[in-house]
Amino acid sequence: MSQSEAAVRLAVIPGDGVGPEVVAATIPVLEAALAVDGIVVELTELDWGGERYLREGAAMPTDAADIVGQHDAVLFGAVGRTDVPDDELVWGLIIGLRQQLDLAVNIRPVRAFPGVPTKVRDSDGVDLVIVRENTEGEYVGAGGLAHAGTGHDLGIEVAVHSRRVIERAAHHAFALAGRRSGRLALVTKSNAMRHGYPLWDRVVREVSEHYPDVTMEVVLVDAMAARMIQAPHSLDVLLASNLFGDILADLAAVLAGGMGMAPSANVRTDPGSVGIYEPVHGSAPDIAGKGIANPVACMLSGALLLEDLGHVGAAARVRDAVAAALVDPSHHTADLGGHATTAELSSAVLRKMEMHR
Ligand code: NAI
Ligand code: MG
Repeated sequence: MSQSEAAVRLAVIPGDGVGPEVVAATIPVLEAALAVDGIVVELTELDWGGERYLREGAAMPTDAADIVGQHDAVLFGAVGRTDVPDDELVWGLIIGLRQQLDLAVNIRPVRAFPGVPTKVRDSDGVDLVIVRENTEGEYVGAGGLAHAGTGHDLGIEVAVHSRRVIERAAHHAFALAGRRSGRLALVTKSNAMRHGYPLWDRVVREVSEHYPDVTMEVVLVDAMAARMIQAPHSLDVLLASNLFGDILADLAAVLAGGMGMAPSANVRTDPGSVGIYEPVHGSAPDIAGKGIANPVACMLSGALLLEDLGHVGAAARVRDAVAAALVDPSHHTADLGGHATTAELSSAVLRKMEMHR
């Protein structure tokens, strides 16, 4: 297919485990949603991940960032294999790409869909977004191992929090809160960590001055963990560091039915740049290859992708079709207590989209 105006140039990294399964279930849904507007998808499938690592010694090529940059957006499944050390693949691919492309924030919306069972009482109607700083903090990769192999091994992991990086994440989160309910909670741990997190508190308060319509509160991460389960409706936009955002996102996913329901977007804060859209979950080796993974997290990541590219109608079509399919428990995958396969849920979403055209 030649390049044209009415095309989305999509790089796809299916990755490992359930990654390829949920991506395969998602692509037709995105294609169908865009086709309504006469837009085609030009796919480039990239074989990055664990198999490539075993074959070539690296999960992705050295010019990965350039390759990604030749597209409008990236849809990523997951990485992780039981026979390769986790950090080789997670660092060698997704964390590496987030840093190389300087994807400043990871947006993690959590929405409870009607008809989807959850393990938490009072989670009906939950609708919140975690804005996770995506390049620094505890995941910056600074540190080392001293006295290795002596029996007195010493692991040094240095967290880095810089004003520039906090500021850009904060601006993104405040702007988002302004478009939503006007409420933002900053999650830190300034009572026990005396350098990085007080800087977060200070810088984010400064940024808040630019957004008089948004009310801000500062919540310690441990208190936030409890509040997320006890009073999820009191939350709208959460702004958190790399580590806290990662942990809280898995907790928040439980409010929506679990890991199979949680989408994310890795984006820069300047418009027009390439983002990476991926389910929050990993490669789920315990269910990989069985055809039972829930593809909704990946589909909703696709909806975020379409929205960021300006295809707002197509994004809404994906979300509406997912919501319509999930109302019927016969379409639920095993993680939601159902018996549907990945392919069956995907077909149900496609049928709903067809019906609502
Ligand atoms: P995980 O998210 O892969 O799985 C946690 C639990 O959620 C498992 O019980 C799994 O079966 C379930 N689950 C996950 N996705 C699901 C889906 N779509 N449908 C139904 N159930 C689903 O996390 P885990 O087990 O800690 O990590 C597995 C591997 O994935 C590791 O190698 C890890 O490093 C990697 N990982 C990769 C990430 C990425 O690529 N961005 C993110 C998180 C983990
Ligand atoms: Mg995680």
